[in-house]
Amino acid sequence: MSVVVEALDAPRYRATIDGLAALLVDAVERGAGVNFMAGVTTAETRSWWLARADQVADGMIVPIVALEAGGGRVVGSVLLIYSATPNSPHRGEIGKVLVHSSARRRGLGRELMLAAESRARADGRWLLILDTVTGSDADRFYRSLGWNEVGEVPDFALMPDGTLTSTTYFWKSLR
Ligand SMILES: CC(C)(COP(=O)(O)OP(=O)(O)OC[C@H]1O[C@@H](n2cnc3c(N)ncnc32)[C@H](O)[C@@H]1OP(=O)(O)O)[C@@H](O)C(=O)NCCC(=O)NCCS
Repeated sequence: MSVVVEALDAPRYRATIDGLAALLVDAVERGAGVNFMAGVTTAETRSWWLARADQVADGMIVPIVALEAGGGRVVGSVLLIYSATPNSPHRGEIGKVLVHSSARRRGLGRELMLAAESRARADGRWLLILDTVTGSDADRFYRSLGWNEVGEVPDFALMPDGTLTSTTYFWKSLR
């Protein structure tokens, strides 16, 4: 199955929200620490994506998705979230890096991150930050892509099963 990685404008983002909602539920069901608890519904994750539609329209969030060719399901996502303060026009945060559990370890996550970096650079956002569950698959993934560790915050959030976990902050300069 071939997959297309592309940035979405606001109308296409809205049209893709059901697929993004299903992708986020899949990640939580597989145990990822991505804001939600076990048992999350597609209605709840749909609301999460929908709440960002205005920022997508304003250009302050750039959604990049992986779509199965021919208008198929959403199998990956990354959000580029641009800092809005006057003193940080060069900075952005990476969020919701998700690859569907059926499509992992085939290079799709890497392709999504490289597309996000390329877009951030083109938009003048050359300093990126993110955080992820300490010691997780994603932690190893970001290190493999050259992200620099800042440090850990203990007891930062709950995993889907209710256990507390620390988070690790990373940064990457694109200059
Ligand atoms: C993290 C995630 C996005 C990686 O996506 P992916 O498409 O499987 O990653 P890739 O195939 O592009 O992997 C690129 C490299 O990252 C590293 N990597 C990825 N997954 C890994 C894992 N489970 N264990 C160890 N290293 C891993 C490897 O170095 C890999 O290269 P290799 O396959 O040649 O060894 C995916 O596992 C995921 O969606 N996880 C759940 C959601 C999540 O936790 N997101 C992060 C939120 S901050």
